[in-house]
Amino acid sequence: MTGYDDVYRNGTAPWEIGRPQPGLDLEITGPRVLDLGCGSGEVSLELARRGHQVTGVDISAVAIGQARAKAAAEGLTVDFRVGDARSARLGRFDAIVDSGLLHSLHRYGEAQDYLDLLPQLAAPGGSLTVLAISAAGAHGWGLTEEQLRAAFAAPTWTGVTVEPAEVVSVDGPLPGFLLKATRTAI
Ligand SMILES: C[S@@+](CC[C@H](N)C(=O)[O-])C[C@H]1O[C@@H](n2cnc3c(N)ncnc32)[C@H](O)[C@@H]1O
Repeated sequence: MTGYDDVYRNGTAPWEIGRPQPGLDLEITGPRVLDLGCGSGEVSLELARRGHQVTGVDISAVAIGQARAKAAAEGLTVDFRVGDARSARLGRFDAIVDSGLLHSLHRYGEAQDYLDLLPQLAAPGGSLTVLAISAAGAHGWGLTEEQLRAAFAAPTWTGVTVEPAEVVSVDGPLPGFLLKATRTAI
Protein backbone atom coordinates (compact mmCIF):
# COMPACT_ATOMS: atom_id res chain seq x y z
CA MET A 1 0.00 0.00 0.00
CA THR A 2 1.31 3.47 -0.89
CA GLY A 3 0.27 7.04 -0.16
CA TYR A 4 -0.81 7.07 -3.77
CA ASP A 5 -3.25 4.25 -3.00
CA ASP A 6 -5.02 6.51 -0.50
CA VAL A 7 -5.63 9.37 -2.93
CA TYR A 8 -6.91 7.01 -5.61
CA ARG A 9 -9.14 5.18 -3.14
CA ASN A 10 -10.50 8.44 -1.72
CA GLY A 11 -10.89 10.11 -5.11
CA THR A 12 -8.69 13.03 -3.97
CA ALA A 13 -5.80 12.81 -6.45
CA PRO A 14 -5.60 16.38 -7.84
CA TRP A 15 -4.26 15.15 -11.21
CA GLU A 16 -7.32 12.97 -11.81
CA ILE A 17 -9.11 15.11 -14.41
CA GLY A 18 -10.91 12.29 -16.22
CA ARG A 19 -8.95 12.66 -19.45
CA PRO A 20 -5.34 12.80 -20.59
CA GLN A 21 -3.47 15.97 -19.76
CA PRO A 22 -4.38 18.41 -22.60
CA GLY A 23 -0.74 19.58 -22.76
CA LEU A 24 0.41 16.14 -23.91
CA ASP A 25 1.04 15.36 -27.55
CA LEU A 26 -0.24 11.83 -28.09
CA GLU A 27 0.42 11.81 -31.85
CA ILE A 28 3.16 9.24 -31.43
CA THR A 29 4.63 6.65 -33.76
CA GLY A 30 5.18 2.97 -33.23
CA PRO A 31 3.10 0.09 -32.07
CA ARG A 32 4.54 -0.56 -28.60
CA VAL A 33 3.96 2.22 -26.09
CA LEU A 34 4.89 2.37 -22.40
CA ASP A 35 2.96 4.71 -20.09
CA LEU A 36 5.00 5.14 -16.90
CA GLY A 37 3.17 6.28 -13.79
CA CYS A 38 -0.04 5.63 -15.69
CA GLY A 39 -2.35 6.24 -12.71
CA SER A 40 -5.94 5.29 -13.44
CA GLY A 41 -5.06 4.92 -17.10
CA GLU A 42 -6.43 7.91 -19.03
CA VAL A 43 -3.34 8.24 -21.26
CA SER A 44 -3.00 4.48 -21.77
CA LEU A 45 -6.66 4.15 -22.69
CA GLU A 46 -6.51 6.99 -25.21
CA LEU A 47 -3.43 5.44 -26.82
CA ALA A 48 -5.17 2.06 -26.96
CA ARG A 49 -8.16 3.71 -28.66
CA ARG A 50 -5.70 4.99 -31.26
CA GLY A 51 -4.52 1.46 -31.95
CA HIS A 52 -1.28 1.27 -29.97
CA GLN A 53 -0.23 -1.78 -27.94
CA VAL A 54 0.00 -0.18 -24.54
CA THR A 55 1.69 -1.21 -21.31
CA GLY A 56 0.82 0.97 -18.31
CA VAL A 57 2.80 0.79 -15.08
CA ASP A 58 1.98 2.40 -11.75
CA ILE A 59 3.17 1.85 -8.20
CA SER A 60 -0.40 2.13 -6.88
CA ALA A 61 -2.38 -1.11 -6.97
CA VAL A 62 -5.55 0.91 -6.43
CA ALA A 63 -4.83 3.05 -9.50
CA ILE A 64 -4.11 -0.02 -11.60
CA GLY A 65 -7.36 -1.62 -10.40
CA GLN A 66 -9.24 1.47 -11.55
CA ALA A 67 -7.39 1.49 -14.88
CA ARG A 68 -8.23 -2.17 -15.51
CA ALA A 69 -11.89 -1.52 -14.72
CA LYS A 70 -12.01 1.38 -17.21
CA ALA A 71 -10.38 -0.76 -19.90
CA ALA A 72 -12.81 -3.61 -19.30
CA ALA A 73 -15.80 -1.23 -19.42
CA GLU A 74 -14.68 0.00 -22.82
CA GLY A 75 -13.56 -3.36 -24.15
CA LEU A 76 -9.99 -2.10 -24.57
CA THR A 77 -6.90 -4.26 -24.14
CA VAL A 78 -4.08 -2.63 -22.13
CA ASP A 79 -1.36 -4.43 -20.21
CA PHE A 80 -1.75 -2.63 -16.88
CA ARG A 81 0.85 -3.62 -14.29
CA VAL A 82 1.55 -2.70 -10.68
CA GLY A 83 5.24 -1.86 -10.49
CA ASP A 84 7.94 0.63 -9.63
CA ALA A 85 9.02 2.57 -12.72
CA ARG A 86 12.53 2.86 -11.25
CA SER A 87 13.05 -0.89 -11.71
CA ALA A 88 10.60 -1.78 -14.49
CA ARG A 89 12.62 -3.98 -16.84
CA LEU A 90 9.99 -4.62 -19.47
CA GLY A 91 11.94 -4.72 -22.72
CA ARG A 92 12.10 -1.92 -25.25
CA PHE A 93 9.28 0.25 -26.50
CA ASP A 94 8.77 2.38 -29.62
CA ALA A 95 7.42 5.20 -27.50
CA ILE A 96 7.43 6.09 -23.81
CA VAL A 97 5.02 8.55 -22.21
CA ASP A 98 5.48 10.08 -18.77
CA SER A 99 2.59 12.26 -17.71
CA GLY A 100 3.51 13.54 -14.28
CA LEU A 101 5.78 10.76 -13.02
CA LEU A 102 9.17 12.44 -13.36
CA HIS A 103 8.11 15.49 -11.40
CA SER A 104 6.61 13.23 -8.72
CA LEU A 105 9.88 11.32 -8.33
CA HIS A 106 11.93 14.53 -8.52
CA ARG A 107 9.82 16.01 -5.73
CA TYR A 108 11.01 13.32 -3.33
CA GLY A 109 14.60 13.05 -4.63
CA GLU A 110 13.82 9.68 -6.27
CA ALA A 111 14.34 10.48 -9.95
CA GLN A 112 17.89 9.32 -10.63
CA ASP A 113 17.25 5.54 -10.80
CA TYR A 114 14.33 6.28 -13.11
CA LEU A 115 16.42 8.49 -15.38
CA ASP A 116 19.11 5.80 -15.50
CA LEU A 117 16.60 3.12 -16.50
CA LEU A 118 14.67 5.06 -19.16
CA PRO A 119 17.28 4.59 -21.93
CA GLN A 120 17.01 0.82 -21.47
CA LEU A 121 13.25 0.96 -22.01
CA ALA A 122 13.37 2.90 -25.29
CA ALA A 123 14.12 1.18 -28.58
CA PRO A 124 16.73 2.88 -30.77
CA GLY A 125 14.83 5.66 -32.55
CA GLY A 126 12.05 5.42 -30.02
CA SER A 127 10.35 8.53 -28.71
CA LEU A 128 10.02 9.90 -25.21
CA THR A 129 7.33 12.36 -24.15
CA VAL A 130 7.44 13.88 -20.67
CA LEU A 131 4.95 16.35 -19.20
CA ALA A 132 6.28 17.82 -15.97
CA ILE A 133 5.39 20.63 -13.60
CA SER A 134 7.77 23.59 -13.67
CA ALA A 135 9.74 24.77 -10.66
CA ALA A 136 8.29 28.17 -11.47
CA GLY A 137 4.89 26.93 -10.33
CA ALA A 138 3.37 27.69 -6.97
CA HIS A 139 4.65 24.45 -5.45
CA GLY A 140 8.32 25.15 -6.15
CA TRP A 141 9.28 21.44 -6.33
CA GLY A 142 8.92 21.04 -10.08
CA LEU A 143 11.65 20.92 -12.70
CA THR A 144 13.47 23.64 -14.57
CA GLU A 145 14.10 23.55 -18.31
CA GLU A 146 17.82 23.24 -17.51
CA GLN A 147 17.23 20.17 -15.33
CA LEU A 148 15.14 18.55 -18.05
CA ARG A 149 17.72 19.22 -20.75
CA ALA A 150 20.49 17.87 -18.50
CA ALA A 151 18.50 14.72 -17.77
CA PHE A 152 17.89 13.96 -21.46
CA ALA A 153 21.19 14.87 -23.07
CA ALA A 154 23.36 13.54 -25.89
CA PRO A 155 24.63 10.99 -26.65
CA THR A 156 21.75 8.94 -25.18
CA TRP A 157 18.98 11.28 -26.34
CA THR A 158 18.73 13.43 -29.45
CA GLY A 159 16.26 15.86 -31.02
CA VAL A 160 15.35 17.16 -27.58
CA THR A 161 12.70 19.87 -27.42
CA VAL A 162 11.34 21.48 -24.27
CA GLU A 163 8.28 23.69 -24.63
CA PRO A 164 6.14 25.46 -22.04
CA ALA A 165 2.96 23.50 -21.34
CA GLU A 166 0.17 23.62 -18.80
CA VAL A 167 -0.31 20.78 -16.33
CA VAL A 168 -3.97 20.71 -15.37
CA SER A 169 -5.15 19.74 -11.89
CA VAL A 170 -8.60 19.82 -10.38
CA ASP A 171 -7.52 23.09 -8.73
CA GLY A 172 -6.55 24.68 -12.03
CA PRO A 173 -3.59 24.84 -14.39
CA LEU A 174 0.05 24.84 -13.30
CA PRO A 175 3.01 25.88 -15.44
CA GLY A 176 5.00 23.00 -16.83
CA PHE A 177 7.06 21.70 -19.70
CA LEU A 178 6.49 19.24 -22.50
CA LEU A 179 9.75 17.47 -23.35
CA LYS A 180 10.20 15.33 -26.42
CA ALA A 181 13.31 13.33 -27.19
CA THR A 182 14.43 10.45 -29.38
CA ARG A 183 16.57 7.55 -28.16
CA THR A 184 19.78 7.29 -30.12
CA ALA A 185 21.08 3.93 -31.31
CA ILE A 186 24.02 4.08 -28.88
C1 LIG B 1 0.92 13.01 -11.02
S1 LIG B 1 0.36 11.33 -11.11
C2 LIG B 1 0.05 11.16 -12.84
C3 LIG B 1 -0.84 10.00 -13.20
C4 LIG B 1 -1.17 9.86 -14.69
N1 LIG B 1 0.00 9.64 -15.48
C5 LIG B 1 -1.93 11.06 -15.19
O1 LIG B 1 -1.46 11.77 -16.08
O2 LIG B 1 -3.06 11.27 -14.69
C6 LIG B 1 1.85 10.39 -10.83
C7 LIG B 1 1.63 8.91 -10.84
O3 LIG B 1 2.90 8.27 -10.65
C8 LIG B 1 2.71 7.13 -9.83
N2 LIG B 1 4.01 6.81 -9.23
C9 LIG B 1 4.69 7.46 -8.27
N3 LIG B 1 5.87 6.89 -8.02
C10 LIG B 1 5.95 5.82 -8.87
C11 LIG B 1 6.94 4.83 -9.14
N4 LIG B 1 8.10 4.81 -8.45
N5 LIG B 1 6.69 3.91 -10.08
C12 LIG B 1 5.52 3.92 -10.78
N6 LIG B 1 4.55 4.81 -10.57
C13 LIG B 1 4.76 5.77 -9.64
C14 LIG B 1 1.63 7.55 -8.83
O4 LIG B 1 0.99 6.46 -8.23
C15 LIG B 1 0.72 8.38 -9.73
O5 LIG B 1 -0.26 7.57 -10.31
